[in-house]
Amino acid sequence: MSKKPIILGIESSCDETAVALIRENNEGKPEILSNIVSSQVDIHKEFGGVVPELAARAHIEKIDLIAKKAIYESGVSLNDVAAVAATAGPGLVVCLSVGLNFGKAVAASLEKPFIAVNHLEGHALSPKLNSKINYPYLLLLISGGHSQYLSVERLGKYKRLGTTIDDAVGEAFDKTAKLLGIEFPGGPQIEILAEKGDPKKFDLPKPIINKGGCNLSFAGLKTAILRITKNIKSEKDKYDLAASFQNTIEEILYKKSKVAFKEFININGDKEKKFVVAGGVAANKKIRKILTELCYEENFQPIFPPLNLCGDNAAMIAMVGLEKFKKNQFDKLDFPTKPRWQLDEKAVFLKGAGVKI
Ligand code: KG4
Ligand code: ZN
Repeated sequence: MSKKPIILGIESSCDETAVALIRENNEGKPEILSNIVSSQVDIHKEFGGVVPELAARAHIEKIDLIAKKAIYESGVSLNDVAAVAATAGPGLVVCLSVGLNFGKAVAASLEKPFIAVNHLEGHALSPKLNSKINYPYLLLLISGGHSQYLSVERLGKYKRLGTTIDDAVGEAFDKTAKLLGIEFPGGPQIEILAEKGDPKKFDLPKPIINKGGCNLSFAGLKTAILRITKNIKSEKDKYDLAASFQNTIEEILYKKSKVAFKEFININGDKEKKFVVAGGVAANKKIRKILTELCYEENFQPIFPPLNLCGDNAAMIAMVGLEKFKKNQFDKLDFPTKPRWQLDEKAVFLKGAGVKI
């Protein structure tokens, strides 16, 4: 019986220190052996956002322990690892270098191949950890630093169809939460508050909703919310604003995804109509619901990662590592950190299209 490769994945691009081990099982499916994520939310809470130096220090303090825990929980020995995959970008350079150098050191000491991973490719492949998905597929990547539509042609080959021209969706959630006095990161809290409010109470702007193809914009939304929060008088107003915000985001993503569907079909034909939604914001249940409904209307297959794999994690980094391993795509130990690293290298650089700051 041939030995199935075990991949060690490492992630430290922002405020999560994460290590995971995955293995391909005998049916060719990836199997998560361990997946440890250590969040730094408590460290950054009092500053209302991620402080790079504090994040880097926490990664340095934690990474050893998290790696030991991941190996222990996986039940395999470090010597069984076939290759080490670590995030090289995009992200905060001081954070990236911790996980990247740790990964290189482990690979060198084990004399095993090293694989440098694009964090965004990790999100793009995250649903493959629990469902078989053939290329090509349409991807909506929505997280704290990115919002983009991509045609995923194959491993390492992406065509950007649209991107945010200002803020990312997760950033809009977090900024709205901050204006409502909710602790960082407030995105998930907005979803909860929104359930108690009236989604039609405030008419919020939907920037570039009818133009710009499937590009996105959220900055005008933040300005409108700032103005409204100044007149908020009751808890009910707060719930109504959260609900109106959530509803506006749903409407924007519904409409823009419909445009992206057309662009995807123009490129790939109408035989492979699969729509993957990944990244931290893909954990939002109402966004999942509305985009699932759109898929049924337009005959696309909706695919979401499980909730625990939407946010940053190392299993998705190991997943990219596994696909690259099978294609013998390895990197040298002098691979640099790439704080700005777009999936579609040919696309014009825009904030939110491959940078997490
Ligand atoms: O993918 P992720 O963990 O990190 C980045 O790569 O950016 O995404 C984090 C973002 C944050 O902005 C967070 O507020 C948002 O995802 N988020 C949510 C929800 N859960 C996380 N936004 C809306 N609803 C949620 N349930
Ligand atoms: Zn991420």
